[in-house]
Amino acid sequence: MSDLFTPLRLGAIELANRVVMSSLTRNRASHPGDVPNALMAEYYRQRASVGLILTEATPICPEGHGYPRTPGIHSPEQIDGWRKVTAAVHDAGGKIALQLWHVGRISHPDLQPGGALPVAPSAIRPAGQAVTFEGMKDFVTPRALETAEIPGLIASYVEAARNAMAAGFDGVEIHAGNGYLLDQFLRSSTNRRTDNYGGGKGNRARLLLEVVQRVVAAISADRVGVRLSPVTTFNDIIDDNPQETFEYVVGELNRFGLAFLDILQGIGGAPKEDWPPFDYERLRALYQGNLILNNDYGYTSAMAAVESGAADAIAFGRLLIANPDLVERFRRGLPFNPLDYATLYGGEEKGYTDYPFLAG
Ligand code: PHB
Repeated sequence: MSDLFTPLRLGAIELANRVVMSSLTRNRASHPGDVPNALMAEYYRQRASVGLILTEATPICPEGHGYPRTPGIHSPEQIDGWRKVTAAVHDAGGKIALQLWHVGRISHPDLQPGGALPVAPSAIRPAGQAVTFEGMKDFVTPRALETAEIPGLIASYVEAARNAMAAGFDGVEIHAGNGYLLDQFLRSSTNRRTDNYGGGKGNRARLLLEVVQRVVAAISADRVGVRLSPVTTFNDIIDDNPQETFEYVVGELNRFGLAFLDILQGIGGAPKEDWPPFDYERLRALYQGNLILNNDYGYTSAMAAVESGAADAIAFGRLLIANPDLVERFRRGLPFNPLDYATLYGGEEKGYTDYPFLAG
C-alpha cells in the first residue's frame, strides 16, 4: 500500500514522495520586468524536499498579468531568472513544474500593456477589486476576445511552455482554475459566447482542450498537468452544473495521457462548511491518470487520502509556506510553525525565506 512517503512517477517526472507544493502567489518578483530573482530561488530551494514543487501562478504573456510582482515566463530576462530557480531546486534534489497562468478579466488597465482593458470570454465585469501598484481598484468590464484572437492566445501558452522547458523545469501545469482565463471559458457564469468557444459544455471546454493539445504536442504529455477547481467561487465565478461540466472536462483530458491532474477541492481559504457539494470520487473514477488533490489537508487526512486511493498525491499550500521542511515534520510527527498571514503577498525575506527549519 502507498502512503505519503512512497515515491511516485507522474509521467516523466519522478517524485521522491507524494507531498506536493501547491501553486502559491507570493508577489516577490523583481519589478519592473516581473523577473524571478535570487530570493525566489532561495524560497523554492528551501522547499525542495517535497516530491514536486508547483510554482506560483506565472503569466504566459504581458496581458496575462493581474497582480503586482508576479513573475512571468514571456521575456528572456524571466527565462534566465527561472533558470536560477530550477537549478537551485535541482541541486537540492527536488522537482519543479511551472504553472502557466493567464488571469483574463481578473486584472486592471493599470497592469495591462498600454493601459488596455483586460480580455475575457465575455464582457462581464467581476464583482470586487483588482490589486494594483496603487492599491485596490474596482474591476472594469473586460473586452471579449474575438474568435480570431484565439489562435494567438493558444500560441502564447505554447511559447510559455517552451520557455519553461528552456528554463529547466521538469514540466508545466496549465492553470484552468480559480476564476482565471481558462476557467472563465469553462464556467457558465462568465462565458456567454455565441461562437464555438461558448454555449454547451463542449464549447466552453474547447479552449482548454485546444491549449492542452497544443502544449502536449510542443513539450510532450508526460510533462504536462492541468489544474481545475470545479466549485470555487473565488474571483466571482460559478457554473450552472459543475458536476456535468467537470465530468466532461476530465473525461476529455483522458485523451492526452497527461502527467497529472490537480484538483482544488472546495474554495481556497474558505472553511470546509462553506464548500459547495461536489462528488470528487466521480472524477477520480473517470480520470485514468495520476490525481493530485488539494485544499486544507493535514497529515492525517492526506495519509488517509493516499492510502485509500482517493488521490495519488496531495498538494499543500499554507503548511508549506510556514514549514519548508514539512516532509521531515510529517515523517517525525513534529509540530508545525504557524503561518503569518500578513506577509503572504509582497515584501521580501520576512515571512518568505525566514521560517525556521527543525533543529538538528
Ligand atoms: C492570488 O493571487 O491570490 C491567486 C492566484 C492564483 C490562484 C489563486 C489565487 O489560483
